[in-house]
Amino acid sequence: MAKATSNGARKLIVGNWKMNPTSAEDAKKIFRQIAAKVAPSKKVITVICPPAVYLAPLAQVKKNVVLGTQDIFYEREGAFTGFISASMVKNFGVEYIIVGHSERRKAGLPAGQAGETDELINLKVKAVLKEGLKVILCVGEVEHDENGHYLTVIKKQLEAGLAGVPKNFFANVIIAHEPIWAIGAAAKGADTPENFQHNKLFIRKILSGIAGKKIALAAPVLYGGSVGVKNAESFLTEGDADGLLIGRTSLVPEDFVQIIKIANC
Ligand code: PGA
Repeated sequence: MAKATSNGARKLIVGNWKMNPTSAEDAKKIFRQIAAKVAPSKKVITVICPPAVYLAPLAQVKKNVVLGTQDIFYEREGAFTGFISASMVKNFGVEYIIVGHSERRKAGLPAGQAGETDELINLKVKAVLKEGLKVILCVGEVEHDENGHYLTVIKKQLEAGLAGVPKNFFANVIIAHEPIWAIGAAAKGADTPENFQHNKLFIRKILSGIAGKKIALAAPVLYGGSVGVKNAESFLTEGDADGLLIGRTSLVPEDFVQIIKIANC
């Protein structure tokens, strides 16, 4: 059974649809199938982050599912071809914005990968918070090593990503630990709940250094990377995750709904 999160808050189950599906019709279909099965809950907040072009049609069917987006640009408006701002997505009821996903941090080919730096990510984090929205800051290492060197990567991403964020904004900061080696169809598979629990403690320790113990203990820390029906419960219980960031499985309504049910137990 998934107990309440360590900070007593509701669990966050976040679906990141990435660049899927290819038609608005399919997006509506998947969203409707999920929304139809999500009841109001005191234990779980369900968030779906579709491609931004689908926000308008999905905003009309949203019910007990909250909308999020996968990225924004840090400026509010202006001559920035191809970008969208936090204020724009807010118009469609978006409450959560993912920033710093590893697929955006990754540099170079294949084309389309943005190569975002910690500095750019920090500007985006601040822009989301300034708009009064919640940011899901993704951090994660390329390789896991037994000596724990990977923790220095997480530390740097947290410190740089949150630099200059005023303490009163931290109530809207959510951290997602997504080990890059555990993400996507080509991944080795998910991390273990034990590792996640250890990483969550480490993340809280770094947050404590940035913003103080009280804020650090209240900050939700999510796990992401090859989450499915089979391992969701163990991350939420043994791993003590405050929620899950889910890619592929969030596009499979039956499975995603099953995970929401698990989180509600
Ligand atoms: P995955 O993706 O669940 O398909 O591994 C997770 C993510 O990248 O957020």
